[in-house]
Amino acid sequence: MNIKALNGFKDILPGEVELWQRLEALARDIFARFNFSEIRLPILEKTDLFARAIGESTDIVEKEMYTFVDKQVTMRPEATASLLRAYIEHGLHVQKPVQRLFTIGPMFRHERPQKGRLRQFHQMDAEVLGSASPRVDAEMMAMGAMLLAELGLSVSLEMNSLGCPVCRPGFRTSLLAFLDDRHQALCDDCKRRSSTNPLRVLDCKNPKCREQVLEAPSLLEHLCADCADHLSGVQEGLEQLGVQYSLNKFMVRGLDYYTRTTFEFITGDLGAQAAVGAGGRYDGLIEQLGGPRVPGIGFALGMERLVLLLQQQEAELAASGVDLLVAGLGEQSSRYGFGLTHALRTGGMRVVMDFEGRSLKSQMKQAGKLGVPYVLILGENELVKGKAVLRNMATQEQQDILLQDEATTVQTLVTLISA
Ligand code: HAM
Repeated sequence: MNIKALNGFKDILPGEVELWQRLEALARDIFARFNFSEIRLPILEKTDLFARAIGESTDIVEKEMYTFVDKQVTMRPEATASLLRAYIEHGLHVQKPVQRLFTIGPMFRHERPQKGRLRQFHQMDAEVLGSASPRVDAEMMAMGAMLLAELGLSVSLEMNSLGCPVCRPGFRTSLLAFLDDRHQALCDDCKRRSSTNPLRVLDCKNPKCREQVLEAPSLLEHLCADCADHLSGVQEGLEQLGVQYSLNKFMVRGLDYYTRTTFEFITGDLGAQAAVGAGGRYDGLIEQLGGPRVPGIGFALGMERLVLLLQQQEAELAASGVDLLVAGLGEQSSRYGFGLTHALRTGGMRVVMDFEGRSLKSQMKQAGKLGVPYVLILGENELVKGKAVLRNMATQEQQDILLQDEATTVQTLVTLISA
């Protein structure tokens, strides 16, 4: 019997693990620059902790948790609730009025696996407990942005304010009235959500719902004076630290504990899984979990998504390394390509060619992986006619190349490729 890893669970093999190590080492360095201490937490917690912290009517609690029903325990779907449980249990607020903690490790959510979305995934999570200062919000976003910038990734930052228990009920009422008129046009999930968790309708990805909420009332216009002051303090801090961001009034986040500032680091390079990290403030949560009345804020970066971006970046770096892939299709053309490759290299070009007799499709795939700008296709029939095809991988244009004597062919290719 051939036993494989579970769907959505993944081995991290040599070759890839080095990227993970690099990522973790840089994160630890940056967390230390901002005076964060590490905390290591158990993977299994009482189910109740997540239901109370994340919210009964969130996707995570309703359908994504790995729960052992007979024991009422759950494999943590995120780190914040566990970290707060530990903070409260060990009275960490007594040791220091402001705790700055980070943790790195696996989380578990029973989601539909796809690129950048796993069932066991890893987060680097940082939390500041005990400060309500808007400067801390700005500092947290700046720290995330610094880590992403030092990894060489270009990621944008979106921010919103979700208000507080003073201003949110008023907003909820006007949103409910707005959604009532549009109930029939919403997707089935949002029809249900509009009574249980109406704010979630705002960030539904279904195009039907997106269109309906375009004119929805904005939380930003319903903020109470304290929340509005807080938001402008955060914006001032971000400007002072030179952190680029944009306000996104539709961002709600999938966890119920947020108050005021919420934010996401977004990439355009990972398809549907655009958020490489996210977080926000949760001022009432510690008290709600039975702890002292202290505010908190934090964020988590998804390591799989960062590794995917780093791998794409490495592919781009490789792209600058190789000028041409020579694809031989058959014995004669491979023999010819073998000699031509050597002559091109002698002429100063960086050329790759393999001798495994692979199909054109798989050689093109390799060219894509390496990010090679040109492929020279040597077909057996064309070779007989003294021709080959040069394909520009960026524009997908192809042109015939006359195969003359080797020196002339090399000269032609060097001129075309360096143009
Ligand atoms: P979250 O938005 O659920 O927030 O997750 C944070 C990040 O974890 C996401 O932006 C994404 O990069 C990554 N992530 C989430 N689910 C998956 C998955 N199935 N596969 C791969 N990566 C995933 C939280 O978890 C909050 N605890 C963040 C926070 C900390 N808020 C305050 N403090």
